[in-house]
Parts: sequence; structure tokens; C-alpha cells
Amino acid sequence: MSVRPSDGRPTSIDTVLDASPLMAVVVIADAKGASELARALVRGGVVSIEVTLRTPAALEAIRRIAGEVPEALVGAGTVLTPKDLHASAEAGARFAVSPGATSALLDAGRDGPIPYLPAVATASEIMEGLALGYSAFKAFPAAVIGGPAALKAFAGPFADVRFCPTGGITVATAADYLALPNVACVGGSWLTPAEALKAGDWATVERLAREAMAVLSGRAA
Ligand code: 3PG
Repeated sequence: MSVRPSDGRPTSIDTVLDASPLMAVVVIADAKGASELARALVRGGVVSIEVTLRTPAALEAIRRIAGEVPEALVGAGTVLTPKDLHASAEAGARFAVSPGATSALLDAGRDGPIPYLPAVATASEIMEGLALGYSAFKAFPAAVIGGPAALKAFAGPFADVRFCPTGGITVATAADYLALPNVACVGGSWLTPAEALKAGDWATVERLAREAMAVLSGRAA
């Protein structure tokens, strides 16, 4: 399950989910600082980075991180169409994540060029994904759909499904999600505040990552 080929590219979405308990969800306005941002996250202990396709700079940011920061595991987020999925893979994304799913994306992601994580918010969406061969999902927006209690409830009917909840998670709540056996990792944008990115304040990003990882491993930062 955790096999990675020699070039470091994950072979399955499980490998991606197992790479780090915390995935940084980032919105990058300027690709110039992307590699420095990724290095700061990695120094803080967070190697999984979802660069959301919410800005024109996103694909270039992925390209730079993939090329210049091999110790990071960079993926594309906010993948809304099969075209986004393919553009992300071409830019060097190691994985792709959506905030939901469409049948076109579920089809494209199944035989896609990189591991793909669709999102669910309901039992019916999980069932639809399972029917198509998916067994790992982002749960979004996690805090709104019921938080850890919702994830715990999903474990009853869907015992073998793994989740990466994101949306409204903070350093104060991440551990509650990760305590659940069906939660492989959690994602959040709190590690990369827009002001810090704009100012190139990589020390703050590193500190936030380090603090979060310390909390999650039960240590003081
Ligand atoms: C996502 O796309 O996963 C969310 O934007 C992250 O949610 P957050 O900003 O509430 O952490």
C-alpha cells in the first residue's frame, strides 16, 4: 500500500494519505514564492501540499514545487473538471483532489495519470464512489457536515473507507479527527495565511506547521 516508485511518485491515493497526517491546503497568488513556501512547510514537518487551482498562478506553482522541492509531495486541489486533472498532472502534481465529485471526474480519476481523491459530504456520495471502485475520499466541508461525529458515523456502514477531512479544521480540532481510525489525514489552510504568503513570511509558515505537527504528535512545539 505504501509502495512508491523510485522517482518518488505515489502509486495510489493511499500512499498520498499515508505520507503525512496533515495536508497543507494553499492558495498561491504568486508562483515566485511557491518553492520557498513548500520548503517552509517541509521544514515544519508538513510534506503534503495541496495547491488549489483557485488562482492563475496555481499550475506554475505546482510546476515549481514539483521541480525544485522533491522532498514535498505536491498535489492539485480544487480540481473541478477532467481538464483540470490532466493539466495538474502535466504540471507535475503527484495527486489531485476535488471539493466534490462529478461522474466525469470519477471516471477520469479512476484511470487517470495521478492518484485522485474525490470528496463526499453524504452517505449516498460515498456509495456512488464505492460503486466506481473508490475507497478513499476527502470529506468536505468537514466541520459543516458534522465534524468528527459525522466521520465516526460513516465508519458504521462504510468500515473500509478512509477519509481526509478538510474545511473548517484548525490546530485545535485536527487531533479529534485524527483520533478516528477511518481518518487517514486532515487538511487545512490555517498553516498558510494569505498575509504571510503575501509578505513572504516563511518563518511564520514554518512555525505554524511545526506547532501543528507537535500538537498532533502530542509534543510541545
Ligand atoms: C479545502 O479546499 O479543502 C478548503 O478550502 C480548506 O478548508 P479550510 O480553508 O477551512 O482549511
